[in-house]
Amino acid sequence: MADSNPRLVAVSNRVGPLSDEGQAGGLVVGLSDALKRRGGVWFGWSGETSKEGTQGEAKTEVQENVEMTTIDMSQEELQGFYYDYANRSLWPLLHYRLDLAEFDRVSDKVYRQVNHRFAVRLMPHLKENDLVWVHDYHFFYMGSELRQAGYKGRLGYFLHIPFCAPEVFSALPASHDIVRALLAYDVIGFQTDTDRCNFVSFCISELGGEKLDEDRVRVGDRTVIAKPFPIGIDAEGYARFAVSPEAGEHEEMLLSMTRDRRNSDGEGAERKLIVGVDRMDYSKGLLERFYGFERLLEDYPENCGSAIFLQVAPLSRSELDAYAELRDELERTAGHLNGRFATLDWTPLQMMTRGFTRKALAGIYRAARVCLVTPLRDGMNLVAKEFVAAQDPEDPGVLILSRFAGALDELKCGCIVVNPYNTDDVAAAMQRALTMPLEERKRRWEAMREAVFTGTAQRWCQSFIDMLETSHHEPAAQTSS
Ligand code: ADP
Ligand code: F6P
Repeated sequence: MADSNPRLVAVSNRVGPLSDEGQAGGLVVGLSDALKRRGGVWFGWSGETSKEGTQGEAKTEVQENVEMTTIDMSQEELQGFYYDYANRSLWPLLHYRLDLAEFDRVSDKVYRQVNHRFAVRLMPHLKENDLVWVHDYHFFYMGSELRQAGYKGRLGYFLHIPFCAPEVFSALPASHDIVRALLAYDVIGFQTDTDRCNFVSFCISELGGEKLDEDRVRVGDRTVIAKPFPIGIDAEGYARFAVSPEAGEHEEMLLSMTRDRRNSDGEGAERKLIVGVDRMDYSKGLLERFYGFERLLEDYPENCGSAIFLQVAPLSRSELDAYAELRDELERTAGHLNGRFATLDWTPLQMMTRGFTRKALAGIYRAARVCLVTPLRDGMNLVAKEFVAAQDPEDPGVLILSRFAGALDELKCGCIVVNPYNTDDVAAAMQRALTMPLEERKRRWEAMREAVFTGTAQRWCQSFIDMLETSHHEPAAQTSS
C-alpha cells in the first residue's frame, strides 16, 4: 500500500543552498524551488574534497524543511568523475560538441565507481516508501547501483541537459551501458519532447527496444516511462524578488547608467539596456552573441552611444581547457569590440563574472529592455523564465530566444526566435526588440508570463512525482554498470 505522502529523496551532484545566495546553475535553482515547497531529503556532493573521499563522514544540515546530506569526494574522484567524465566526455557530447568530447577508460571507470559509492552511501538513509529522484548526467548509473544494493522503492530520474540524437550519443564508448543502466529507473524525465524522442530512438535502434505508447518504451524485460517534464521556476516568488528593495537598487543603478544616453545623432535615447546572464559555458553561445551585438552597432549605427550590452557570465569549470579558452576568447572579443566602438563616455559591452543574489539578478532583468538567451544548445534555460517573471507589467522587456533552447517550446508564444549561428539574424532581432512598440511588448510578455506562471518548479516536481507514484513498479535485477 503506497504511503499517502511519501518522503522525497532527491540526489544530485550539487546540493543547495535553498537560500537566495545565488549559485549559478539551473539544477540547484529549480530543485531548491521545488524542494522548499515539498520538503524532503537532498543527497549529493559536499563540494569538498578530502583524503577519505566518500568514505568520510556524511554531513547533514537542515535548511527549512529539507535535510541536506552530503559527502566528500577524493581529489582523484573529483578529477575523473566530475571534470573528466561528466564535463569532458558527457557534457560536450550531449550538447552536440563531439569536437570537444574526449573519451578515456580511466575516467569511465572512476565515474562508475563514484556512482557506485554514492549509491552505497545513500542506502542507509533510505526508507521503504521513499520516492528517490536522481538528477542529471552525473548519476546515470545511480539507479542500477541502488537496485543492486537492494533498494526496492520507486526510482525516478531527470536529465537537466539535452539528450542528443542517437547517432551522436552512440559515439560514447559506454553509450549502451548508460542507457541500459537508465532502464533501472521507473520514470525517466526529459526537458523536452525532442530529448525524449532521441532517447527512445536510441533504445529502439541500438538496443532493439520497442515503443509501447507515447510514454512507454520496452527493452528486453524492462518497461520504463520516458516523458518530458519541462522544469520551471517559482514564478510568484521571482516576481516578488523583482520588486524587493535589493532588486530596486540594482535596477536603479542600471537605469541611471542608460537613462540619459544620447544616440549617435545626439537625440535623447529610450532605455536601451540589453542583458545576458549565463554561466561561462561554450553551450551558451556567448561569442556568437558578442558578434551579433557588434553587427547591431555596424548595421544600425543609431544605437552607437546609447545601447549597452551587459553580459553577466559567472565562471564555470575553469579548470577545463575548453572553458579557459572560451574566457580568453570572450575577453579578447569584448576588448576588440569596445576598442572599436567606445567613446569617452560610452562603453558598449560590459562583461562581469561575479555572482549575484537572486534578488539582485531580478533587478538587473527588470532594468533591461532586451534579454538575450541564445544558447547553441540548452536543456531548458531558466534565465529565460526568470527574465519574464521579473518584468514590470506596465513596461515589459523583450526576450530574444535561441531556437536551440529547451525553453522555446513554452516561450515561442511571445519571444523573438533567433538562430544563434546567424549573426545578421541576431543583430536584426536586437534592433527589432529595441524599437518594439509598448503594445506589442505587452502582448508578447503577457503570453510568456502565462506560460512561466503555469509551468512552475512546483508543478514540474509534482507532475514528476505523480507519474512516479502511479508508474508500474517492477524492480528488476539489473546488469552491472
Ligand atoms: P545552466 O543550468 O546551464 O547554468 P540555466 O539558465 O537553466 O542554465 O540556469 C542558470 C541559473 O543560474 C539561473 O537560475 C540564473 O539566475 C543563475 N545565475 C546565472 N548567473 C548567475 C550569477 N552571476 N549569480 C547568481 N546566479 C546566477
Ligand atoms: O543544469 C545543468 C547543470 O549542468 C547542472 O547539472 C549543474 O549543476 C549546473 O549546470 C552547473 O554546473 P556545475 O555543477 O558543473 O557547476
